[in-house]
Amino acid sequence: MNITVIGTGYVGLVSGVCYARLGHQVICVDKEPGKIALLNAGGIPIYEPGLKELAEAGREAGKLSFTTNLQDAVKRSEFIILAVGTPSLPSGAANLAYIEQAAMEVAAAMDGYKMIAVKSTVPVGTNERLAELIRSRSDQPFDSISLPEFLREGSAIQDTLYPDRIVIGADSKHAADKLVELHRPLTEHMIVTDIRSAEMIKYASNAFLATKISFINEIANICEKVGADVTEVAYGMGCDSRIGSSFLKAGIGYGGSCFPKDTSALIQIAGNVDYEFKLLRSVVEVNQDQRFNIIRKLKMIFGGELAGKRIAVWGLAFKPNTDDVRDSPALDIIQYLADNGVQVTAYDPIAAPNFKSLLNREGIVWCGDAASAAKDADALCLLTEWEEFGSFDLALLQRLMKRPILIDGRNVFKEEHLLGTDFVYYSVGRPSLNQGVKEQMPVLQFHS
Ligand code: UDX
Repeated sequence: MNITVIGTGYVGLVSGVCYARLGHQVICVDKEPGKIALLNAGGIPIYEPGLKELAEAGREAGKLSFTTNLQDAVKRSEFIILAVGTPSLPSGAANLAYIEQAAMEVAAAMDGYKMIAVKSTVPVGTNERLAELIRSRSDQPFDSISLPEFLREGSAIQDTLYPDRIVIGADSKHAADKLVELHRPLTEHMIVTDIRSAEMIKYASNAFLATKISFINEIANICEKVGADVTEVAYGMGCDSRIGSSFLKAGIGYGGSCFPKDTSALIQIAGNVDYEFKLLRSVVEVNQDQRFNIIRKLKMIFGGELAGKRIAVWGLAFKPNTDDVRDSPALDIIQYLADNGVQVTAYDPIAAPNFKSLLNREGIVWCGDAASAAKDADALCLLTEWEEFGSFDLALLQRLMKRPILIDGRNVFKEEHLLGTDFVYYSVGRPSLNQGVKEQMPVLQFHS
């Protein structure tokens, strides 16, 4: 099939590359000439394992090309995918200006029947609104499809080529059948539904995963007070197939380009129809507060006074294997530390340049490796679970630091790592590992 993908962000680029991998003829379109020049020169504007190699293979096979010429690409394709950004407005609602603009440009370029699918995450009803826009600008026939995307950064290729399911929202049987056929090599698990339900499936899925994370983080906070271990609790819960084990890793909360944006948008979508989504509001609130547990623990250790301390931070990305720092909990944590007179020594294997573009100020020293960041630090906070941190020799770490204080925001270290060291160690929801502060294991009071 001849496919045009509009927007070369995470979703658009990965989708385009993967459709080319399936043997389709794919044109990826973006407005930014610099981005297209980079892609045509074999570069990739984002860090995503395996993407560069797959894009190169697609280009070499003549299946994948990049252009700024939307009009020409649309004319040459039967299937058009809109994958442009829908960032949050200050209200939390999704900004649809870019996708509406793209739809209007598609309408102006259409010269025959097209299937037009939206892969961007858009509020319920958006596909219908875009269809109206297109209809008002073109008399060519077309079918609208909602084709939500569930890929995760860091495993985007794997998620796209081996999805759990494909959701196709369409009113037209012809378009639905064509898309089922297109995706059949990826999975047999195809959900064909109406357009509004498909749009809602995406938001509901992300909101539910975010809920699981905030739920386990609150359980972790209670575990700290009652002396239970959240990793044991999550394991015990996850063995129940009705619950499932994924997304039950306690930590400093979720970040990234999707969960924060999509939870806010769903609260707003509900609000627009006079429904207060109380549960999701709490999920967001819990998530926003969870990151500050790092600060609370530091304050407890240092008797409330952080000014003048040198505190190392390992990990800036919102999760490992990505250079994405959007809504990363590290942003708020480092901002707070720097605002309160702390000298922060920060290191991330790849995300530092992106982080610096959002937060670069006095009080932050950027380090080239994990050891330099830790050197002479009064405490170290691990905020992203990059593999290299988990394999760092803690005896060496102790020698490097001024004081052996380790706040593990992602529960990376286990008891055996800590053996033989003098670390004052705090993780999330595992009070029995609070080595060096064992006397602080909670004494439970029972009230009748
Ligand atoms: C998410 C969805 O998983 C994906 O389906 C959707 O298309 C886009 O949004 P992504 O943001 O790339 O993907 O990352 P994900 O792996 O889902 O992690 C999101 C955040 O949740 C990260 O900050 C991660 O650290 C956190 N997380 C995840 C937890 O804190 N605990 C968990 O158990 C899982």
